[in-house]
Amino acid sequence: MLEGKTAFVTGGSGAVGSAIVRVLAREGARVAFSFHSHGERASALEAQCRADGRLVRAYPLDVLDAKACQSTAKAVEDEVGPVDVLVNNAGVTQVMPFAMIEEKDWDQMMDVNVKGMFLVTKAFARGMIRRRSGGIINMGSRAGMRVLDVPVHYAAAKSAVTGFTLSLARELGRYNIRVNAVVPGMLTGGVSDNVPPKQRDKYNEFCCLSRAGEPAEVAELVAFLASDRAGYVNAQSLFVDGGI
Ligand SMILES: NC(=O)c1ccc[n+]([C@@H]2O[C@H](COP(=O)([O-])OP(=O)(O)OC[C@H]3O[C@@H](n4cnc5c(N)ncnc54)[C@H](OP(=O)(O)O)[C@@H]3O)[C@@H](O)[C@H]2O)c1
Repeated sequence: MLEGKTAFVTGGSGAVGSAIVRVLAREGARVAFSFHSHGERASALEAQCRADGRLVRAYPLDVLDAKACQSTAKAVEDEVGPVDVLVNNAGVTQVMPFAMIEEKDWDQMMDVNVKGMFLVTKAFARGMIRRRSGGIINMGSRAGMRVLDVPVHYAAAKSAVTGFTLSLARELGRYNIRVNAVVPGMLTGGVSDNVPPKQRDKYNEFCCLSRAGEPAEVAELVAFLASDRAGYVNAQSLFVDGGI
């Protein structure tokens, strides 16, 4: 489905990002991905994929470092290939009631989840615009779309992903670049690791499938959106949440 395409995935060292890297590589894409603090996980993922005969390469990147975003984009384009698909997946959360959220917590949520997405997109969009072709997939969350028991600063940041996706799709459509968001519900692993058991039970109660999703189930949707099969899917926020 993705033969001949090159993808860049942020946060490939995490639960969802590593699943995305695996599925995109399995579908035939050349995949570059970034990690931040977990270099050992990145190396292990790179080694596993390569052992399976896939072309996968890891890059260290703090998505808040604008210069590093630019130089990583250049390195990926030189070393792996012109990027057709960008997946803005890196993100963080904190489980915290509103009254406990301090300014630094608010800033961290907005910085990594929103500003990071902006800086990385800016670095990669230029090449896509030049080539008049590309796909950008942003990682949203149900937290930013519905009334839920979730931390307010995380919900606000994920809500921003929707606005970013809509207006960017409008602006880049003229260059044949599609921009979509994937909106997972509660998954096993990653940022859901700290969700208290009571809230997990509540999610399962309201979810039609009565379970958390798997990161790989999110990755399958990302692969479809990245492919030419999704050629007329644009400016969408697609839920992958088991039905709530
Ligand atoms: N898991 C869920 O239930 C769920 C549900 C809805 C949405 N999501 C979204 O899915 C995305 C991935 O989350 P996850 O569950 O896979 O969490 P995760 O396992 O904690 O992974 C987060 C990833 O983001 C990277 N990252 C964090 N800060 C960074 C920074 N400053 N610069 C660059 N990279 C940074 C981490 O890199 P290092 O580990 O190398 O530091 C890691 O690869 C997030 O956007 C999250 O909001 C997850």
